[in-house]
Amino acid sequence: MNKIPDSQILVIFGASGDLTHRKLIPSLFERKLLPEKFLIVGVARTRQNTEEFRKSLYESMLQSGKTSATDNPHLTDFLRCVYYIVCDTTRSEAYGPLFAEIEQLRNAAGIDDNILFYLATPPIMYPVIPAFIREQHQNSSSRGWRRIIIEKPYGSNEAEARALDHLLCSIFPEREIYRIDHFLGKETVQNILVLRFANSIWEPLWNRNYIDHIEITATETLGVEQRGSYYDSAGALRDMVQSHLIQIMAFIAMEPPATFEPEAIRDEISKVFRSLRPLSPDDIARNTLRGQYSAGTIDGQKVPGYRDEPHIDPQSTTETFVALKLYIDNWRWAGVPVFIYTGKRLAEKRSEVVIHFRNTPRTFFPGQCCGNSCNQLVITLQPDESIRLRFGLKQPGTNFEVSQVSMDFFYKSLIETRLPGAYERLLLDAMRGDALLYSRSDALELSWHFLAPLLESWERDGDEGLITYPAGSKLPREVVDRIHAQPYLLNESVCCLCNSRHS
Ligand code: BG6
Repeated sequence: MNKIPDSQILVIFGASGDLTHRKLIPSLFERKLLPEKFLIVGVARTRQNTEEFRKSLYESMLQSGKTSATDNPHLTDFLRCVYYIVCDTTRSEAYGPLFAEIEQLRNAAGIDDNILFYLATPPIMYPVIPAFIREQHQNSSSRGWRRIIIEKPYGSNEAEARALDHLLCSIFPEREIYRIDHFLGKETVQNILVLRFANSIWEPLWNRNYIDHIEITATETLGVEQRGSYYDSAGALRDMVQSHLIQIMAFIAMEPPATFEPEAIRDEISKVFRSLRPLSPDDIARNTLRGQYSAGTIDGQKVPGYRDEPHIDPQSTTETFVALKLYIDNWRWAGVPVFIYTGKRLAEKRSEVVIHFRNTPRTFFPGQCCGNSCNQLVITLQPDESIRLRFGLKQPGTNFEVSQVSMDFFYKSLIETRLPGAYERLLLDAMRGDALLYSRSDALELSWHFLAPLLESWERDGDEGLITYPAGSKLPREVVDRIHAQPYLLNESVCCLCNSRHS
């Protein structure tokens, strides 16, 4: 969809915060497809006027290097569409004056009655602000539309996500609720759909007959930074697996959609989640692992352990590393394990998907790789965004000796193409009413439902089973091997007659 969005106002609640300065405003500045008539209204409690708000945005954009001195006139020009309104959003009485001021700005700028709300606030405000918006009858308009974007975390467990959903769906229609997962805004993640559905070569191989297992990894060097109080109550399972990695898994695993319409794609995503094999206590014991970083060294700098980070409980048992093996019990994927790994304060920042194809039935050649990792399709989501196909090649010479090589495509070889930031795409999509890259309510609930037994079990177990790894470690291999070493390494296969597992 290349539609330019309708004329509209973007109202950002929590506008004095980090997200607005670091992501939202820079992304809007970068995007060239903004409507001609467009205003951004920042709303927050911090006492400042529009000029001061513009100045703080201007400075943070310069500091972040998002714009250079030569761009400054454009930035100043862009910031003319930004306004700021001081508002205590916890108080019902504050909303009447707030909407009166928004209405004035809208009329003065001749903008249609279209408002996109963005909740960039602490999650505690997610149920509060929409309820006050409804109180002011601003949740719909007969002359235009209302939409709302909600940041993660969307609840912290199944019950909370469901309750939040219930409330939001009683205020806005589902099609106007945009639940953000910024990973889906990444160009390389979207390309998974194109790689799969714009090319015919993968489809015959994309199933249990040819794929041995799948790995989805997202490691980071960063710790919890200033987000300790949020992170300590979330942990890596909620923060990365539920929010992002399980969605990537759905892109990899879904069936081809009937059409490329958002609802058709979202239907297929929900079907994947419905097919996830529920985690039994036995699966949790054998197929999942969690860890927490201790003090260590990253890029030559000593860094504290998780429990010594600001705003973290010194006795915290929150996981900063997760390894998880899961199964999608459907016709395409039965018996193919999907491994998900994620962790903070590891040796490198890397997000990638590796499709491991099955072994050849016989090994003829010296040097031939054997096992299930010889043929791989490696989709590197970040950094060094690329796609690589690994295979065995005859070494030139008189013998049939084999070495492993790869055919690589790097995004940076597309000289003219700048990879847009995730928020650029997602904001634009919400502005033009395209929900394809946003999570639908049923998918979200299903993913929470799948992870619920694990969340509960880890909460119950406290310290038990929580391993520690020094900051700066490589993906703790022995840990990973422990879950890899489950039935899968014993050449588990699913019997074609009775559909049970044999080794
Ligand atoms: C966020 C998580 O959603 O994603 C952070 O809350 C994490 O903890 C971040 O660091 C990773 O995103 P990216 O785009 O930097 O890989």
